[in-house]
Amino acid sequence: MLRIERSVRGPLVVFAVSGRVGVKNITELQRIVDSEAGQRKALNLKDLTLVDRHAVGFLARCEAEGTPLENCPIYVRQWIVREGPPSSFSELRRKETFGMKTMHETSGTEERTVHQGDTGSSAADFHGIVGRSAALQRVLRLVETVATTDAAILIRGETGTGKELIAGLIHRLSKRRGGPLVKFNCTAIPAGLLESELFGHERGAFTSAIARRLGRFELANNGTLFLDEIGDLQLDLQPKLLRVLEEQAFERIGSTQMIRTDVRVIAATNRPLEELVEAGEFRADLFYRLNVFPIDLPPLRERTEDIPPLVRHFVAHHARNVGRRIDAISPDVIDTLVRYPWPGNVRELQHVLHRAVILSDGGSLELPPLAVKAARPPAPRAKTYDDALREHIVEVLRETNGIVAGPRGAALRLGLKRTTLVSKMEKLGITPDRVVSTLAQEKGRAVHRY
Ligand SMILES: Nc1ncnc2c1ncn2[C@@H]1O[C@H](COP(=O)(O)OP(=O)(O)OP(=O)(O)O)[C@@H](O)[C@H]1O
Ligand SMILES: [Mg+2]
Repeated sequence: MLRIERSVRGPLVVFAVSGRVGVKNITELQRIVDSEAGQRKALNLKDLTLVDRHAVGFLARCEAEGTPLENCPIYVRQWIVREGPPSSFSELRRKETFGMKTMHETSGTEERTVHQGDTGSSAADFHGIVGRSAALQRVLRLVETVATTDAAILIRGETGTGKELIAGLIHRLSKRRGGPLVKFNCTAIPAGLLESELFGHERGAFTSAIARRLGRFELANNGTLFLDEIGDLQLDLQPKLLRVLEEQAFERIGSTQMIRTDVRVIAATNRPLEELVEAGEFRADLFYRLNVFPIDLPPLRERTEDIPPLVRHFVAHHARNVGRRIDAISPDVIDTLVRYPWPGNVRELQHVLHRAVILSDGGSLELPPLAVKAARPPAPRAKTYDDALREHIVEVLRETNGIVAGPRGAALRLGLKRTTLVSKMEKLGITPDRVVSTLAQEKGRAVHRY
């Protein structure tokens, strides 16, 4: 049974929606939402139990039209992302909004001339974001889906993967783009000053408070607040942050007056917040509040396709700034850069190329020794549990000449029941015949390989 309760938080009408939302009651829900014309509305989905496809479409539409979805269950959020709102990334792509039609990259090993003044961004360069890998495209699709909503976003990724860049893009694509984008790094500020930096203070609130000061939440009113390195936010401030996120209101230090603020929060972290929650260093309630919409930026070594266009982009950029002319980037150089594991990700690549441009005196781009020396082949794919198990079973089967059961069989050696071993072999695609024939082939007799 669907239940909708209406409550008012200042100018905001909130409908708490609980129960199952199905096709029959969407019309009712739509009517109720529409009935509050002119007032900012939100749907609080905290107690929602089940939705169907029509409901997901409805929720996506509400959000796209500016009705925030509060406490949206993660499975609904993922579904919304999968289905996409009415005018989604793909539609915008058709209209070439992202200028991606111009994306015709040369292969990673092909030599390409880069002249001074060349933007180097004939590759996918969407609002200054270069790259064409499927992983990055997925991120951009998510960004496009969520940018127009007011949902809190948590951007996760290793250092230098572009979290701040993505936060800026979300702001620029949002309806808050006319408002401020205020950045706040939770590590850069001494612990004692953090609270006042976030919420501001009144004159005389503490010894050094010689004048009233506005905090970041006030400065970001009608805009976006980017909370960088959120994993480093001290524990005692976390409930205060949660409260502002929940109530969109706060008090300056030294004052009891509530100040309303209309801020969209984007947080970023390169630390695993779930682990911090488990270790008691990060509050679970704040984590869930921030994690409404997580965006994961993959490390550069997992999207090596992005390296050649990024190289051209940065070489052209630095060549222009430094006043150098780089005629070519050799396939070997590109290859070395593609194989390097980039622990510092795009930022590290950018700095290496800056040094490379300075070192190269016309002609081809020359890599600084540091990058070349440190280069190593990509890490081998980690062996999965199934791979290891398969190898072990095959090894034992080879020793028993393909015999599974009985006193000379593999089951006994492995300490397994015959039926257990047989079912494991089926699951792993191992047949004793093929093990034996491979063995035979190795001895120069059989023809087919395992
Ligand atoms: N896809 C990209 N295209 C172009 N430039 C990029 C891309 N990704 C990252 N960069 C550049 O790399 C540098 C690092 O990016 P950014 O500061 O956003 O990373 P970050 O994830 O916030 O890093 P940190 O965790 O260390 O703060 C910036 O100069 C940014 O402009
Ligand atoms: Mg950053």
